[in-house]
Amino acid sequence: MRLWTLCAPILALALPATAQQQDYTAANADRQAMLDRLGIEKIRAGADGFNPNAPNAVNYDEAKAGTPELPDMMRLNDGRRVNNSKDWDRRRREIVELFDREIYGRVPLTAPKITWNLVREEKASEAGIPVTRRWLEGVADNRDAPQASAHISVRYTLPDRPERVPVMLSFGFPEGFKFPGPPRPADPGPPYTEQLLKQGWGYAVVVANSIQADNGGALKTGVIGISLKGRPRGPEDWGVLRAWAWGASRAREALASDAKVDRRRIGIEGLSRYGKAALVAMAYDPQFAIGFVGSSGAGGAALYRRNFGERMGNLAAGGEYHWFAGNFLKYAGPKTEFDLPVDAHMLIALSAPRPLFIGAGTVDTGDGWVDPKGSFLAAVAASPAWTVRGAKGLNASVFPPELTPVTEGDLAFRQHRGGHNNRDNWPSFIDFAVRELGR
Ligand code: GCU
Repeated sequence: MRLWTLCAPILALALPATAQQQDYTAANADRQAMLDRLGIEKIRAGADGFNPNAPNAVNYDEAKAGTPELPDMMRLNDGRRVNNSKDWDRRRREIVELFDREIYGRVPLTAPKITWNLVREEKASEAGIPVTRRWLEGVADNRDAPQASAHISVRYTLPDRPERVPVMLSFGFPEGFKFPGPPRPADPGPPYTEQLLKQGWGYAVVVANSIQADNGGALKTGVIGISLKGRPRGPEDWGVLRAWAWGASRAREALASDAKVDRRRIGIEGLSRYGKAALVAMAYDPQFAIGFVGSSGAGGAALYRRNFGERMGNLAAGGEYHWFAGNFLKYAGPKTEFDLPVDAHMLIALSAPRPLFIGAGTVDTGDGWVDPKGSFLAAVAASPAWTVRGAKGLNASVFPPELTPVTEGDLAFRQHRGGHNNRDNWPSFIDFAVRELGR
């Protein structure tokens, strides 16, 4: 694993993957094999985020973003409208099937069993709060595929309290991981971990790359590799986002088996590609009680059909195609995003009626690549799923000014001025989470 692979998700500005200096040789061969299998000759170029004079230069002009018509989320395949909670359950299954088949891929029945080991445990004090820290390793059973392996790394910290505590699980990096380049300035406020502990919440990290490496050239190993038993991925097999989300669900189960954790109050958080993974985890695992999805952009909460920031061609390029099912490549040529049977509002809707917070930075602080407004509009369009389940969707339909939390409903949105990070939205998310789930 090259350092740049790990570093990409928290660059201060989200950049096209071409900037991330990875070795894509094996990935390109794997991708080409999938294109051949699907009979695709050419993939459209994505948005060029570097050359403003390029014919496909990235668009950051709202006037050119378009006002796309979205697939009707509230109509069943047989044409009937969704009127009640029961209809929605059925529609939800139809939507899941579409995301399985066309976007994120299916988890095969051969997905490995994970056995959890407690690696280390210690008592400590954080910000004056007595805590217990634990390190777990989830070993994937690879007896049927010994050439592949996965050791899922999870660490967590719980405040020492008499009652069971809620926990936020984040997609993250190995412990002690340092980003290359000059040291980053210290955070202005207390770290989010301290903010959570002060509310009586614990925090946990699952190392995404320990579930599945972030590279199309490594699909023969990790949990995907184990499940495939040496054969190449088929067009409907799971991509890396689905694998990360699946691994997070296994981590959730491990946390839930700790007698000090409130298993009904485990949330999931992520930024950027990990924000996409957090949204997928919420969509597929109804046992995640709350989600915090930051700067997830295209392939996450932002509408595919808007021309703003990252586009289909970027997602289908050598550095990102592996996040998705093979079938997804079709929509970057010959089909387009307008041929997709879904859009991001339908992914967001799969979280309903649970609380979900969607955030991003602003375009002028460097988060335009993730199309913050595209996520907002998707959340507006997703809101009927909360209503039909007797909950409350987004409490706005007009794009709010930055720094204005729209958190009155069970679906929330806020834009901060901190660029491509979640840091500046943590206080707002925690207020929302405590209101929704308590201390
Ligand atoms: C790139 C990619 C995005 C992704 C981001 C990240 O910018 O184009 O889709 O979210 O990397 O994860 O940092």
